Amino acid sequence: MNTAHKGRILVTGGAGYIGSHTVVALLEAGYEPLLLDNFANSSPSVLERLHTLTGQSITCLEADCTQTDAVLERLRPLHVAIPFAGIIHFAAYKAVGESMARPLEYYHNNLGAMTSVLRWMEELGISLLVFSSSCTVYGQPEALPVSESAPMQPASSPYGHTKQMCEQMIGDFVRANPSCAAVLLRYFNPIGAHPSALLGELPLGRPNNLVPYLTQAAAGWIPPLTVFGTDYPTPDGTAVRDYIHVCDLARGHVQALDYLAHKPGICQAINLGASEGVSVRQLIDTFTAATGAPVPHQTGPRRAGDVAQVYADTTLATQLLGWQPQFSLADALRHAWAWQQQLPETSRP
Ligand code: NAD
Ligand code: UD1
Repeated sequence: MNTAHKGRILVTGGAGYIGSHTVVALLEAGYEPLLLDNFANSSPSVLERLHTLTGQSITCLEADCTQTDAVLERLRPLHVAIPFAGIIHFAAYKAVGESMARPLEYYHNNLGAMTSVLRWMEELGISLLVFSSSCTVYGQPEALPVSESAPMQPASSPYGHTKQMCEQMIGDFVRANPSCAAVLLRYFNPIGAHPSALLGELPLGRPNNLVPYLTQAAAGWIPPLTVFGTDYPTPDGTAVRDYIHVCDLARGHVQALDYLAHKPGICQAINLGASEGVSVRQLIDTFTAATGAPVPHQTGPRRAGDVAQVYADTTLATQLLGWQPQFSLADALRHAWAWQQQLPETSRP
């Protein structure tokens, strides 16, 4: 680990899937992460695994981001002792289907947490922000690969609306506070796990996303995978996405922070993806080739709200951040499988 001290970073949602991998990348780059999480969708046990992996003690404030003033008063003395150089804001609810059924919870949590983060920046004089956005802000883009200049289409869910609204809130905030700067990282489909198998995705209940469903179905924990739709206008009829290894994504956050350090007044959206369209069928075949494990599956109708294909133009990430993915799709799938295989029986659905 690099021991140079590049500044303390508040990581909201740092105990979650992408947050925990980013904490490792921050430590490796010489930043000092301080986590803030209410464990709504994660477990405090991740802190021990982070300690095992990095050899460093990990500080986590157990708090709810929507409690703006109460959390501010807990952050203030910490900031006085060692100032926060920036915030990476992951904390949000993220299940698309659930957001359709419980929209108010999504608006309350995701917009409430966003408002708090911007208030804390204003009150404490923290100038740098990296925000977890999503390719969902593009809807079904008119041209592929999709670049950051593509017009936003109406989002297909309340979850997507909250990402669009948060991006707008940050833009308005930076315009009013030009000493601040923000990067809006638009993730495509994050998958995989840390190569050590000490960190990974732990979906609560039956997974909705393709890769955790596929790995659990391959292990025989849940019924066979259903391929949603075989009549899309794509080469093999199944939907096409852009799958990016979570460790590559994590590194993008560090590079975004480095980039922001000298850019007051900017609010820059940047895509993070592998720039490669992969169909559901291709993903299944790559998994079996990489791990030797067959995937029991059947075909079914399209899932409501799914777009046919979306993949990223990541020219800007390369130009501005010097970022490029280092792991392949096969690596990501092997790592996801290795992570799942070491999970104790008690964490299985
Ligand atoms: P996650 O659920 O694993 O992590 C989110 C973390 O935030 C959890 O630890 C949760 O406990 C915490 N949290 C939620 N609400 C909170 C609150 N009010 N106060 C404090 N902590 C709170 O999700 P993830 O996959 O790591 O996603 C992180 C971010 O990236 C989210 O903003 C998500 O919308 C965004 N994103 C994720 C994906 C994806 O496919 N995983 C894709 C695009 C964007
Ligand atoms: C969705 C969200 C996205 C969010 C991401 C992470 C939409 C339009 N997009 O991405 O905003 O950031 O989840 O939560 O909702 N599939 C199957 N069988 C399955 C599961 C999935 O065939 O059992 C297919 C889907 O149809 C899709 C692909 O696999 O084509 C990927 O699905 P998924 O992992 O759920 O991610 P997205 O829908 O792309």
